[in-house]
Amino acid sequence: MSVIAVVSQKGGSGKTTLALHLAASAVQANQPACVIDTDPQATAAAWGDWRGDFLPVVVTSPPARLARTITNAAREVDVVVIDTPPHAEAAMREAIKAADIVLIPSRPRAFDLHALEAVAELIEFSRKSAYVVLNAVPSGATRQVAEASAIAKGLGLQTCPVTFGERADFHRSSAKGEVASEIDANGKAALEAKALWKWVSKKLA
Ligand SMILES: Nc1ncnc2c1ncn2[C@@H]1O[C@H](COP(=O)(O)OP(=O)(O)OP(=O)(O)O)[C@@H](O)[C@H]1O
Ligand SMILES: [Mg+2]
Repeated sequence: MSVIAVVSQKGGSGKTTLALHLAASAVQANQPACVIDTDPQATAAAWGDWRGDFLPVVVTSPPARLARTITNAAREVDVVVIDTPPHAEAAMREAIKAADIVLIPSRPRAFDLHALEAVAELIEFSRKSAYVVLNAVPSGATRQVAEASAIAKGLGLQTCPVTFGERADFHRSSAKGEVASEIDANGKAALEAKALWKWVSKKLA
């Protein structure tokens, strides 16, 4: 079983969007997956409620119970994606500890990138394999992506080659218990989510 932690200090960076789309893409690729929501805001869990019986299942867990929740999930799924709260170092630490790979969504803007510093320290200490995933990238912002990757590199973090654009399909789908591919299977958002899962699954292999 593989454990993917999605962490970032910054609120609204795209942790939940990334976690839900990754788990759904895994399921679509015939890899049973679930999301463990460790955020007291329970946004991912609410998405799971709206979604009803469709996979992936979302379960909630306080960070202190995470290891036990993962053990239980391992009986049912091959892939666990952990969604974490913002501004919560203890929760982030627990998720990183449990993870095989850590993804750090960040919008490619100066303030957001600045917030990577705290995560970078935790990652360095943990020695886990970790990648910044640039999210909500405006169209045509290749220079912004290159600059953001350079800032991440300066902090000792690698950047995932797959990025998520700023796309209505991500926002609109999440808000009704769906993922982008369920709104438009061939849309750019759906293709990005699929590409991210493909890239992550290769890293986990
Ligand atoms: N790539 C994107 N394109 C369009 N909207 C996006 C994108 N990524 C995230 N959003 C929207 O931005 C908002 C914040 O995203 P999300 O909830 O995933 O962030 P988060 O890091 O989980 O936030 P929090 O720190 O509060 O848990 C949501 O309304 C989401 O739909
Ligand atoms: Mg969230």
